Amino acid sequence: MQDRPRVFVARILPDEGIRPILEATDATVWDGDLPPPRDELLRAVEGCDGVMTLLTDRVDAELLDCAGPGLKVVSNYAVGFDNVDVAECTRRGIPVGNTPGVLTETTADLAWTLLMAAARRIVEGADYVRAGKWKTWGPLLLLGPDVHGATLGIVGFGRIGQAVARRAQGFAMTVLYHDPNRLPDEVTQPLGATYVELDELLARSDFVSLHVNLTDDTRHLINAQRLALMKPTAVLVNTARGPVVDTRALDAALRDGVIWAAALDVTDPEPIPADDPLLGHERCLVVPHIASASNATRAKMAEMAALNLLAGVRGERLPTSVNPEVYEAR
Ligand code: DGY
Repeated sequence: MQDRPRVFVARILPDEGIRPILEATDATVWDGDLPPPRDELLRAVEGCDGVMTLLTDRVDAELLDCAGPGLKVVSNYAVGFDNVDVAECTRRGIPVGNTPGVLTETTADLAWTLLMAAARRIVEGADYVRAGKWKTWGPLLLLGPDVHGATLGIVGFGRIGQAVARRAQGFAMTVLYHDPNRLPDEVTQPLGATYVELDELLARSDFVSLHVNLTDDTRHLINAQRLALMKPTAVLVNTARGPVVDTRALDAALRDGVIWAAALDVTDPEPIPADDPLLGHERCLVVPHIASASNATRAKMAEMAALNLLAGVRGERLPTSVNPEVYEAR
């Protein structure tokens, strides 16, 4: 009987992903609540045919060297893949899988949850009640901007940005978008979305929601200069990647009233230390990178990541790879 492929899975995943992997491979699954420390990760991947990584695991030349020449696939349990040195994987002919599509709507839901919660000061309000401060109905209590009829600026108009725009129609919003690829009218018109340059989007929007990949071009895309273009009443929402926003510049902008509020699913660093001054701002709402955290979506991501892993160890084409050019070179 042929040896089963050896794989390492860097965290316990929903059963929809783990079950097929255990059935078909000789798998080691990291069962800690925290990611494997770097030295343990490097040891664990030695001699593997496939590895399943999370956005918390750095996949670089060092890890690929430790895995050795038999490594046939890196399957990343995320749509984002900024933790993976894709160019290095491609150079070595290793396909990298991700999980696009299945988390689009769930992530857009969370972007909207943050937008609404920040505007209507939901967490502040709940804390106020819990602290026993609610004494009467107050004409000036916890006021915030209207969401309906406001202008929403979407930075990055891929699948998730478009799903956010779709939801804005129910709130009669004006939708502006910016993306390096200007989209055809067939895509933007049904969404009522108008293309503008980034600076104009920042200046005109009441709400700015970020949906770009993290790349060298988008690191600190939202910096002090760009925050200064925003309205003092504006709300910034980030469900993309933490380093798209310059954390220290955002901290200063909230402190100095350059913008009114921020709502973040992602931070830089991540996790953000509990004593970071950013968390001291009343109108900075931070949640722990949970945009895709619905039961159904995490199960679909697990299933998809497992399909990528298993296809890879069998030498088959991955259903969803971020570097399909590896197949052209074969
Ligand atoms: C991703 O998939 O990239 C998200 O950040 C986590 O689901």
